[in-house]
Amino acid sequence: MKNAVRYITLSLILVAGGSLSLLAGCDEGEDQPKSGTLEDKAALLADVRAAHAAEVDSHARYAACAARADEEGYARVAALFRAIARSEQVRAAAHAAVLTELEPGGQADARPRTPAVKSTVENMADALQSETLYRDKTYPRYVRDAFNCGEPNATRSMDTAQRAEVEIVRLLQAARDSMEGWKAAGTPFYVCPVCGLVSEQPVTQKCPACFTPCEKFEKVN
Ligand SMILES: [Fe+2]
Repeated sequence: MKNAVRYITLSLILVAGGSLSLLAGCDEGEDQPKSGTLEDKAALLADVRAAHAAEVDSHARYAACAARADEEGYARVAALFRAIARSEQVRAAAHAAVLTELEPGGQADARPRTPAVKSTVENMADALQSETLYRDKTYPRYVRDAFNCGEPNATRSMDTAQRAEVEIVRLLQAARDSMEGWKAAGTPFYVCPVCGLVSEQPVTQKCPACFTPCEKFEKVN
């Protein structure tokens, strides 16, 4: 009964935050959340640390890739990379806040490694491979671990990050499929400053993932 109440509470919190993606299939069977053993909590802490470090790295890598894209004449690809870089930075901050909550006094002290920057075509292929992995494997596992620990803020942070990856992968695929068409500068991208959602179109009401008002979105060229 205790777990059932926890599940219902977490589900309501996540739905209220606009999060429907990965937990919709949970039921009272084997997906029922655990009470959060020490082992579960250690796994979650490792997840959050890894997610934070990965986003810190990715922010630096996409910023460098954007500069390379500009050098090679891919103006709109450069803008997309800058928007993704900002998204990664936002999500790194969100994971850092969760880390502090899970481990009072703990430091989110990951530092970026020097990014390996190749040609823009190669950078695009690498980006698509990496973000697809995070969308399909890494973040779903992190969401599950956070949910199993009964940690709503960690679950929301991981789930909105996974939702951001969905749109990022879609945009990267569109760019990869039409690299020549993405040489000209286009309209700006819009980034949610709370969850890192990237939109190709202006958001007219609230962020569909975290409900941040549209006027808070950052325009990235
Ligand atoms: Fe958002």
